[in-house]
Amino acid sequence: MNRILAISGTPGTGKTEVGQLLAKRLNAQILELSDLAKQKQLLLGRDQERDTFIVDVDQLRHFLVDLARKADERYIAVGHFADEVPVEFLELIVVLRCNPVVLTQRLLQRGWTHEKILENIQAEILSECTAQAMTRHDSSKVFEVDTTSLTLEEVVEAIEAILSGKGNQFVVGQISWLHTLDPKLLHQIMEERTLPLKPQKA
Ligand SMILES: Nc1ncnc2c1ncn2[C@@H]1O[C@H](COP(=O)(O)OP(=O)(O)O)[C@@H](O)[C@H]1O
Ligand SMILES: [Mg+2]
Repeated sequence: MNRILAISGTPGTGKTEVGQLLAKRLNAQILELSDLAKQKQLLLGRDQERDTFIVDVDQLRHFLVDLARKADERYIAVGHFADEVPVEFLELIVVLRCNPVVLTQRLLQRGWTHEKILENIQAEILSECTAQAMTRHDSSKVFEVDTTSLTLEEVVEAIEAILSGKGNQFVVGQISWLHTLDPKLLHQIMEERTLPLKPQKA
């Protein structure tokens, strides 16, 4: 039981790289949820407008239940919908956060469209992944790490601290871009739909 550690977060916050490093350190199996959904055809179709696959989350949950029941391994489930890990198998869920200004730079490097980047930056500002995690899971199992000025190694160390019961500083409620970003910049992102391209004081 409780064999799946979930790492959630807006695209670009470092889930894949952190997950891989952590999996090595903990000798765990990584489950990259969007790859898994594609490989196992746990899909409802394609969202043309967003240029993504629509994951069949019910099927995904069934798949994870079967996997966790059968296998005797520890898993790290990585993905922006990692909150879908069934409650009974969730060890804990860590949501990686990143300052929207820095996150924009990372997403621009992916060559995504303006609209796709904007949608994700707005989701980060509204703490959507954290809200999802809090909706589905007991709040004592949900943590957030601000990765903005941490190295990958430091993010992994933060998660290890959380796992060893020293996660007090990572409880939900410490990170709010709504409170820390310049209100003008927030207005531009949320209302005028422009991306935060210039370096700004956080
Ligand atoms: N803490 C960090 N510091 C600097 N760069 C990072 C950090 N975390 C991730 N990155 C970089 O950001 C990009 C996105 O990371 P990735 O692991 O693919 O994110 P995700 O899986 O959440 O979409 C990669 O180029 C990665 O090297
Ligand atoms: Mg990834």
